[in-house]
Amino acid sequence: ISKKNKKKHFLSLSEGIFAYLNYHVPRTRREILEVLIKGLHRLEYRGYDSAGVGIDGGNSKEWETNSKNIHLIKQTGKVKALDEEIHRQQDVDLDVEFDVHLGIAHTRWATHGVPSPVNSHPQRSDKNNEFIVIHNGIITNYKDLKKFLESKGYEFESETDTETIAKLVKYMYDNRESDAITFATLVEQVTQQLEGAFALVFKSVHYPGEAVGSRRGGPLLIGVRSDHKFSTDHIPILYRSSGKDKKSCNTLPRMDEDTCLFPVDEKAVEYYFASDASAVIEHTNRVIFLEDDDIAAVRDGHLSIHRIKRTAGDHPARAIQTLQMELQQIMKGNFSSFMQKEIFEQPESVVNTMRGRVNFENNTVILGGLKDHIKEIQRCRRLIMIACGTSYHAGVATRQVLEELTELPVMVELASDFLDRNTPVFRDDVCFFISQSGETADSLLALRYCKERGALTVGITNTVGSSVSRETDCGVHINAGPEIGVASTKAYTSQFVALIMFALLMCDDRISVQPRRREIIQGLKVLPDLIKEVLSLDEEIQKLAAELYQQKSVLIMGRGYHYATCLEGALKIKEITYMHSEGILAGELKHGPLALVDKLMPVIMIIMRDHTYTKCQNALQQVVARQGRPIVICDKEDYETIKNSSRTIKVPHSVDCLQGILSVIPLQLLSFHLAVLRGYDVRLFSTHFHLTS
Ligand code: UD1
Ligand code: BG6
Repeated sequence: ISKKNKKKHFLSLSEGIFAYLNYHVPRTRREILEVLIKGLHRLEYRGYDSAGVGIDGGNSKEWETNSKNIHLIKQTGKVKALDEEIHRQQDVDLDVEFDVHLGIAHTRWATHGVPSPVNSHPQRSDKNNEFIVIHNGIITNYKDLKKFLESKGYEFESETDTETIAKLVKYMYDNRESDAITFATLVEQVTQQLEGAFALVFKSVHYPGEAVGSRRGGPLLIGVRSDHKFSTDHIPILYRSSGKDKKSCNTLPRMDEDTCLFPVDEKAVEYYFASDASAVIEHTNRVIFLEDDDIAAVRDGHLSIHRIKRTAGDHPARAIQTLQMELQQIMKGNFSSFMQKEIFEQPESVVNTMRGRVNFENNTVILGGLKDHIKEIQRCRRLIMIACGTSYHAGVATRQVLEELTELPVMVELASDFLDRNTPVFRDDVCFFISQSGETADSLLALRYCKERGALTVGITNTVGSSVSRETDCGVHINAGPEIGVASTKAYTSQFVALIMFALLMCDDRISVQPRRREIIQGLKVLPDLIKEVLSLDEEIQKLAAELYQQKSVLIMGRGYHYATCLEGALKIKEITYMHSEGILAGELKHGPLALVDKLMPVIMIIMRDHTYTKCQNALQQVVARQGRPIVICDKEDYETIKNSSRTIKVPHSVDCLQGILSVIPLQLLSFHLAVLRGYDVRLFSTHFHLTS
């Protein structure tokens, strides 16, 4: 198994982990399941398509006997459906009491394989459920791991990346050097092999009443509850000893009073592992936030935290922090709606779109979903992008770079109009269907229409297992994480990035375009930081919204790469603020729309330093000549535009064909703030906490 890089990864905040360990706190199975289900309910708002729990099976009076047998219950759909499934189980006695027990639970958003019970978590090591695991994130090297494990005779049942983790921990156990190996050491061996991003919690029949959790790139915290005083309020990190002989490398320092957390007087204690504090807060406000590569283990009711080696700058302990907020406040917090949460997730969601696909060191792009079809696509006669709403705008936004890098004619079509026209489609066409949900009716009808005519169909969708994903010949999952807000935001920027990656792939063997490819790939590399910079304009944009929200109309003008931003900005404003808004191609101004401009009409113009710059300056002059006072979204270093405009929103500079990702974000923020100010329903949910040590 290869031991490769362990880079820092971001992880979009979707999916949910919740685990509950009661130690000398007697609980019936019914009570345990209630805690688990409630935990999952608290995580529901993050979005998911299936859920599952893993608990001790057996109906004996002795918990030691029951813990030799793990029972899994998993279901597609809502947590409620899982709960109903639990109550349908014939062989599960809900009244059996457990003095010590670990239950683990998960809500899954499909990225590897469709939503189904077998793909849901917990994933298991084997038919006897010796090891089970719940996982948030993506393991990018799972195919290599799977191949290795299959060569050793391990059989896989799901399509998930997570199953490799469950099998790998069993492999480590089956090949252990000593029976004294701890659960934490096994998990440590496993996480050393994993690439990608994860938060994990493990349970095993070989380690009854023990829990091990770890993370890299995904959040994981542990809530602790006891009526008794804890031994410490800072858990010191245990480092694997750095002795010279091999033997000592495999031993951890002893766990004792000084290195573990436990209640001093009595043994009774409860632990809650969760990916999000909102699942824990109703049980306890005492929490420990794990850091990347921490291995947290509960054994005999003692919590210890291990790391392989100490690196400079490491904090030597994890503090138990007190969550200051009540559940209600946590849910409200800094983000007041899904839309706002998703706008602010964009630095992470674009990374997730590129994860495992773009190699910034050697400037290559791999799209696993297209590799078998790319030659055929390169030979096609034209590309047709078909979509609705925001997804259509992603096609408009990337059309120019697709034309440039593929040297093919590219049509961008609204699905409904495409159908209305009975558009001619041929066998040598390649038709793209861009859809966040993968279920939009017009897009699906157009997909079937193109299939009937023999074209190759390609999906660009955020939803694994959706109709677009299933019915297209091939495609790319954009992996932006669930988009729950009604207004599409992070899916747009991820569709944009996915289409750029496709364009890069199409020309990877053309020598003449290599400098351009490198420029774009390096532009993608810094994109997350630039998005963060744009998001920092939030307050300024909120002020602008306060000036605009009582207006009847807003015009948004631009051209070239930014025409799509105008259309998308205007759609966002219409859709969620109920204000009239129009996206206008600046080249068309003199053919009619200029008549709308006067000193009262709010106008937003997008002017960037690309090949349309001079033409945009002309448009600006035309608007100013009609006494318009446009707000200009421009490059922060474009001093000329800044000097000539009464009001600017300054964004950082990116490569021309990526700049549209940065120009659209101020308009996403603006539409959000306009909606709030105009009093439209903003649902209250959040992911931010206030902490004290
Ligand atoms: C796959 C995994 C991904 C993992 C990566 C590691 C899935 C769903 N994805 O991603 O999580 O990190 O391997 O190697 O298991 N498809 C369509 N239509 C669509 C979208 C996709 O037919 O609209 C097909 C693709 O052609 C492909 C499959 O679905 O056969 C998975 O697509 P995608 O997730 O994009 O593939 P990878 O990036 O390889
Ligand atoms: C519309 C939504 O119904 O569908 C738009 O209001 C969305 O916001 C459009 O962009 C297309 O959706 P999808 O899921 O196909 O991208």
